Formats: sequence, structure tokens, C-alpha cells
Amino acid sequence: MGMTIRIDPIADETPVVLPEPLSFGRVFTRRMFSERFEAGRGWHDPVIGPYRPLNLDPGAQILHAGQAIFEGTKAYLRADGRLNLFRPDANALRFNRSAARMAMPALPSWRFIESIEALVRLEHEWAPSAAGASLYIRPVMIATEATFEVRAAREYTHFVVLSPAGPFFASGFEPIAVQVAEEHIRAARGGTGAAKTPGNYAASLAAIEASRARGYQQVLWLDAVERRFVEEAGAMNVAFVYDGREIVTPSLSGSILPGITRDSILQLAPDLGFPVHEARLDIDTIVADVDAGRITEAFCMGTAAVVVPIGRIGHRGLDHRVGGGNAAPVARRIYDALTNIQYGRADDPYGWTRVIEVNVPAPARAVA
Ligand SMILES: Cc1ncc(COP(=O)(O)O)c(C=O)c1O
Repeated sequence: MGMTIRIDPIADETPVVLPEPLSFGRVFTRRMFSERFEAGRGWHDPVIGPYRPLNLDPGAQILHAGQAIFEGTKAYLRADGRLNLFRPDANALRFNRSAARMAMPALPSWRFIESIEALVRLEHEWAPSAAGASLYIRPVMIATEATFEVRAAREYTHFVVLSPAGPFFASGFEPIAVQVAEEHIRAARGGTGAAKTPGNYAASLAAIEASRARGYQQVLWLDAVERRFVEEAGAMNVAFVYDGREIVTPSLSGSILPGITRDSILQLAPDLGFPVHEARLDIDTIVADVDAGRITEAFCMGTAAVVVPIGRIGHRGLDHRVGGGNAAPVARRIYDALTNIQYGRADDPYGWTRVIEVNVPAPARAVA
């Protein structure tokens, strides 16, 4: 497999100096990848060129029917100056599942991965070296055909942009507070919750803003039908630790996004001595078990944050403290084990990482 990517020049070739401090998703690198799709012709004209605004017809389907999907993955700077990708094949698979759900064309996995690798190789200087920092990778597909007809578009653009990112939460491994959403739902079975499509995020913003205004960082979503079973925490999957050892996480219901971090933890945690079960988790039982001290930790899982402990759950006007303010030792062990693999500090018995070779030795890189 392989495609010939045209490389266009960029205006600014000066050495990269990363902003300090690094936030999440606000700074973009100088180049982007893009290619186009037309029905009957397939994917064509892959190019890496300057990062710039899209040239989009106001009639483009993305703006009207909302046909769009995206992914989120990261490149991690290794001590030897090379970069690790983490399970990009899993992102490719999910991208294509999302595409199928949104009636968009498939993108061969090798194309998805090659576009990322080629762009990251050219932009490797943007990979930050600070602890917990990484080069965030955002592949996107949008419908570009101009029509108001309600049907699948016949033209699409696939593009990839990169953003150097500090740790997702400014407070680091500090526990966050989540509020159970009682009025809103994120997604319903049969809908698009298992696809990574922007509409899911648009639908979640009102609840997120409302819970922020009340002093919580994230929303804990319940199922759409019974408003009873825990689904996700914000844009992350969620898990609870019983008696300092046993982990439970909601089974994939059809409305939950199947997280790659979640899937990795399902494989990794048992090897660290923490058995994991997938189950339907009733919020009333969860809250009662938190209050009784049976649940000793709760945590969120996702690419951006990796693992974030939950210290407080707001439910029906009451706050429930998780684990009596302990330091979330199980979440911490998992975070350390997973990030050690991602950054190439530990062996990867699972075959999850993929090394990107770069030309410049580590000492030569510009670090702010
Ligand atoms: C809604 C939602 N749930 C869960 C996740 C976690 O998925 P992953 O671990 O693949 O980043 C994400 C992030 O991609 C998300 O947007």
C-alpha cells in the first residue's frame, strides 16, 4: 500500500518554539494533510501543505446535513527523539465505523495511518517534551458537495491537523467533580452515540455549560431510555473501582463511544492485578456504593486526558465524595502503566505502539 503525497512549501520554515504553557487544542502546527473524494473516482490528490482555512461552499452538506466525523489520537515523544503513535489502527477502524453510520465513504485504514505518519514526520518538532504533553492528531472527514437535498453527499474532504497539547486538565492528576445529567441525554441507542460525529458534541454542550456553572468539570451521562444507567463522563468513558481492586465500566450499549483508552485499560488492568467487568451500572447503586465506601475510586478514560480520577459526583442536588479524598491509587497505577507504554518508557507487550522515525536527533530539537 502507499500513496504519493504532494508536499507543498510553507512560508515559515523558522525553528519551532512551542508556546508556554501549552493548553489543549488551541495551537495548530504549520502544515495540514488533505485529500478529496468523489463518488465514482474515490480518494485522490493527497497533499500536505500550509495549515489554512478550508475552502468551503456555503451549500456544502457538512453545514446543512451535518455529515462529518473525526478522530483523536496522539504522537508521544520518546526519550530517543522518535515518536510513538498509539493504536492508530484502532482509530482507523472507528473512523470507518463512524463513516458507515453517517453514510460517508470508507477510508482505507492504510490511507488513514499514512496520512498521519507523513504529517507527523514533517511536523515532529511540534511534539512537546514536557511530562504528560503530546502532539494531538485530529483526522476529520466532511461532506463538501453543495446541495440542500437530504441524502448522502457525493463529495468529501479528509484532512488531518495537529496540535501540541499540554496535559488535558490544568490541574493534572487532581480529581474532578462530575454532575449526573438529569435533564439532557447525550445519545440514544440506534442514534449516533457510538460514532465520533460532531453532532453528539453539539448536543452535549448545553448540559456541560450548565454543570460548569454549578462548579462541576464534567457531566455524567445516563442512558436515554430509563435515565438510570451510567454511560459516559463528558467526552470520556468512565469506570468505578470496588474495594480498591475490582474495576467496573458500563458495557458498550450502542450509545456509548467505544473508547480506545477504555479498550486498552480493559486489556491492561487485569495484567496489573485489577480485574475488569463490563456491566449495566445503575446510578442509584453507584451513588449508594460510593456513600458506603465500597466504591473507593472512580475515573474517566480518554485519549486527551488518559485517566482522570473523579473525586465528587453530584446527583439530585447532593454531592457524593468518592473514596474519602484518597489519591486514587488504582487510577494512578493504570495511568502510569499506560503512559509508560505510550511514551516508550516501558515494553509494549500488546503491540500497541508504532514508532515514527524522524531525521533530527533528540538534542537538536527546539524545546520552549
Ligand atoms: C464521547 C467520547 N467518549 C469517549 C471517548 C474516549 O475515547 P478514546 O479513548 O478513544 O479517546 C471520547 C474521546 O474520543 C469521546 O469523545
